[in-house]
Amino acid sequence: RIVFVNGEFVPYEEARISIMDRGFLFGDGIYEVAAVLGGRLVDNDAHLARLVRCLGEIGIENPYPVAEWAQLEEELVKRNGLVEGLVYMEVTRGVWERDFPFPPADVKPTVVMFTQEKSITGSKLAETGAKVITVPDLRWKRRDIKSVALLAQVLAKQEAAKAGVSEAWMVEDGYVTEGGSSTAFIITKDGRIVTRPLSNAILPGITRQAVMHLAEEQGLTLEERLFTVEEALDAAEAFYTSASAFVMPTVEMDGKPIADGKPGPLTRRLRALYLDMAQ
Ligand code: PDD
Repeated sequence: RIVFVNGEFVPYEEARISIMDRGFLFGDGIYEVAAVLGGRLVDNDAHLARLVRCLGEIGIENPYPVAEWAQLEEELVKRNGLVEGLVYMEVTRGVWERDFPFPPADVKPTVVMFTQEKSITGSKLAETGAKVITVPDLRWKRRDIKSVALLAQVLAKQEAAKAGVSEAWMVEDGYVTEGGSSTAFIITKDGRIVTRPLSNAILPGITRQAVMHLAEEQGLTLEERLFTVEEALDAAEAFYTSASAFVMPTVEMDGKPIADGKPGPLTRRLRALYLDMAQ
């Protein structure tokens, strides 16, 4: 397995970063996850645009122009012979003696990339549908930044794992914000596809954006608004989206079935459209 660390492709066993890395000490960094299908990156321009925006939001200098990022990712995919799975990328504020304010400007960011094999298109879960639980959203107020400080999500998703379900939908003031690592959607009984509007309260999902675009092309009705847990339980269909799950039908919430407890027809159609687009 070959990984990328600070400008070099090295075997995983040889990859090293400092204990003084600010990603390790402070969670002071951002990350991206993009899917690979048939050896090709899915919707990668959008992922790289978000990476660049997030770096700007926290004042880390972007170490590579977008075209070079893409080349490095492609090289990594090739070196690992990855056909289907994920590319993980992380940039931290670099290595410096532990101190909260930013280090001197000449301290270079740390860059790490690795691949993970994963069958996304052949997901068994997508056939039967995923179960979710709801948990309080314990995160900070800049969830639009894809920060590596993921403790709230780790705790949320551990609750889900303990409950034997796939995802935790996080809730604030009675409204679903998003999944621990995905965007939450419901479809109302009159066929409206509902998801929360973009704001600092959620991550702007790349898969969300693509699915909304596909839905629009199909003439389906989209509604960007907040929705409650009760509304989700009463929905005709539900699903969540992410680079690692694409469109995942959601059939049970807090132990109660959503509609008939099977993946809904519109959700299945959106998944098929997304797979078509991605392949
Ligand atoms: N997570 N919301 C949160 C909090 C996320 O962490 C993610 C992605 C999404 C979906 O975004 P996208 O469609 O761009 O993947 C929404 C990645 C997959 C992860 O942390 O592994």
